[in-house]
Amino acid sequence: MTLDVPTIPVPQRPIYDDALTGLRRSPKTIPPKYFYDDRGSRLFSQICEVPEYYPTRTEALLTRENISDIAALIGSHCQLVELGTGDGFKTRLLLQHLHDLAAYIPVEISRTQLDRCVGELSAEFPDLEILPLCTDYTGDFQVPKNGCEGRTTFYFPGSTIGNFHPSEAGDFLYKIAQKAGPRGGLLVGVDLVKDRTILEAAYNDCAGVTAEFNLNLLRRLNRECGANFDLNTFRHRAVYQSEKHRIEMQLVSTCDQRVDFPTESFHFRKGEAIVTEHSYKFTIDRFATLAEEASWRTRAIWTDDRQLFSVWYLERREKTKNYLEPQRARRKH
Ligand code: AVJ
Repeated sequence: MTLDVPTIPVPQRPIYDDALTGLRRSPKTIPPKYFYDDRGSRLFSQICEVPEYYPTRTEALLTRENISDIAALIGSHCQLVELGTGDGFKTRLLLQHLHDLAAYIPVEISRTQLDRCVGELSAEFPDLEILPLCTDYTGDFQVPKNGCEGRTTFYFPGSTIGNFHPSEAGDFLYKIAQKAGPRGGLLVGVDLVKDRTILEAAYNDCAGVTAEFNLNLLRRLNRECGANFDLNTFRHRAVYQSEKHRIEMQLVSTCDQRVDFPTESFHFRKGEAIVTEHSYKFTIDRFATLAEEASWRTRAIWTDDRQLFSVWYLERREKTKNYLEPQRARRKH
């Protein structure tokens, strides 16, 4: 017997479910991966160019300055898997110096970004095998097998690792180590703890690009989820929470109001914030421990004179006879 239950036409898209789940929480949250629609991705590229946002510029400098060491560590006939390629700015720096890659595998959540980036890179590097993967790398994904016998190196620039909460960051690094396989590598950018004025300026640029990037999330929820956020009643705010070593980005309601989604409404008090992003900052020691516990060994760390940013090359730690499972692995298996 089938029951005649009316079905509610709920849009079955992850963004809808994730937004509702987040907005039911206290404080209200929306996952930062939803920043990157077409417009959001373009705004992020613009953030990378504002004078206050030092991470991209500093990481590019570190990559350029140390490119031969980096290329030597990555080695030859390896497949390079990049997590979140964005506009491919830093990718180019690398690819220009890695001449015998077995394949380049960009993993990117935004279809348009991925298509554009792959189009440009295949024109620029006609001999390179490119195997694009359009997916959310925080979920389950399979690195395509292309018969490559060589090693796998992951490339995770930008300090996007800082978007994970500390416990999840370790789990993610551990998961990547498993995917990297024997002798696998990880080239990762890590933003460093520093004076709060530098940090807060980086997330509150004078031109207001970061504010626009943050508010674009609400624009996207209106368009894709049928919500009715009034963008004039939310303000961008970014604060450094030093005891938690993180920048918190918020959208603050400037009045008491109700916002409707097709299936649910949410109340906002005046001054109430939606937390849209955490961007954790690390000390060298703290990241070294995190990586170690996630079964990586540090082979190289590069930092700039002002210790603004760091780039790491990690190598998967193999199990040896007297191998001690790291804390995390022991908990999980
Ligand atoms: C792409 C996550 C590294 O946290 O600095 C930039 C995103 N948000 N400005 C960061 C971001 C606001 C960025 N990551």
